[in-house]
Amino acid sequence: MKLFSVPALLLLANWVHASHPIGAQQALLDDDSSSTLSVLELHKALIEHESITGNEQSVTGWLISYLVNQNFTVEAHEVTPATSSQRARKNILAYVGPQRKTRTLVSSHIDTVPPFWPYERVGDEIWGRGSVDAKASVASQITAVQELLAAGKIGQGDVALLFVVGEEVGGDGMLKANDMGLKWDTVIFGEPTDLKLASGHKGIMGLEIKAKGKAGHSGYPELGKSANSMLISALHALQNVELPWSEKYGNTTLNIGRIEGGVAANVIAEDAYAKISIRIADGTPAVVEKVILDTLQKTGEEFDVTFSQGYGPVDIDSDIEGFEKIIVNYGTDIPNLKGDHKRYLYGAGSILVAHSDHEHLKVSDLETAVEGYKKLIEHSLK
Ligand SMILES: *[C@@H]1O[C@H](CO)[C@@H](O)[C@H](O)[C@H]1NC(C)=O
Ligand SMILES: *[C@@H]1O[C@H](CO)[C@@H](O)[C@H](O)[C@H]1NC(C)=O
Ligand SMILES: [Zn+2]
Repeated sequence: MKLFSVPALLLLANWVHASHPIGAQQALLDDDSSSTLSVLELHKALIEHESITGNEQSVTGWLISYLVNQNFTVEAHEVTPATSSQRARKNILAYVGPQRKTRTLVSSHIDTVPPFWPYERVGDEIWGRGSVDAKASVASQITAVQELLAAGKIGQGDVALLFVVGEEVGGDGMLKANDMGLKWDTVIFGEPTDLKLASGHKGIMGLEIKAKGKAGHSGYPELGKSANSMLISALHALQNVELPWSEKYGNTTLNIGRIEGGVAANVIAEDAYAKISIRIADGTPAVVEKVILDTLQKTGEEFDVTFSQGYGPVDIDSDIEGFEKIIVNYGTDIPNLKGDHKRYLYGAGSILVAHSDHEHLKVSDLETAVEGYKKLIEHSLK
């Protein structure tokens, strides 16, 4: 992926400041007044804009317009350029007044996994794609910052909001945020933690194993070599292998998420592959990589193995009174944002329903999350 050079980025930022093109443009498109939405209304509006990774343009357009109308200074940073069929995908950075350098950054992601599920209010629950992951965080973070501003508890130079695209697929948005030329003392990340403060999350890596056999008539197996059989042996060995573990994060776990091989029941399979995701509880991806390769070698067969870039377990600060603590097994954008800032991870909703067809949360959790973020922000500025 090509990244902006710093001068180009500063140019973009200056251009946004100088002419306020975002505000002017949106005023023509939107009849939005500058009235402030409640956290529930904000959450609803965000969910109603489908934003499956790669298709975040409409929700970012809406959110930019909302934040501009709320008198934030807003920068839009291009993550992937426009093509003939698609508008550019952009991250949003919002802050108060001209001071883009702030002590605290509050951040979450605006993309969701597929498929889209519409917003639905069912009693005291809110259902819909992104209702938990992570539009609950986005809405409650914005409301928390606005309430602190309105109460005069924070001001210019204290807090910026960063909403990135692409978290669910590779984190291209957060990786791009490294080019903004900014550093913070503290970054508060929003992901579903059931309103607890996460003290760490497992690492992750992915791999694909390809087996190459020799096709032939299934009646004469001795004339061919089944890629499916090779792959089955390899996967069986991997399921029984001992992977690194730790007291804090438990076991490293391995999920064989996709298998495909062969063409027909009566043909010896020439090709087969498996895609695997590993949640790392200790050490680095390199350590796990070696265990995998050694295990495959012991099968006596040759495989073509590709590892995707990963990272080991991520320790997160959780030194704040008044929050329950939790360790989570999912990946986040935290390792994608470089710097020596303190980092917190907190948000409404349960990861156990995120990414599912029954993604939902309680209305009161959204309201509690606003209070939680206020507490975290105030603590970070002490
Ligand atoms: C934004 O600023 C304008 C002009 O100062 C003001 O009229 C408006 O009420 C402000 N809106 C919000 C949401 O603070
Ligand atoms: C980790 O794996 C071991 C061995 O398979 C098992 O006995 C143990 O219960 C696992 N621990 C957790 C926390 O799942
Ligand atoms: Zn998420």
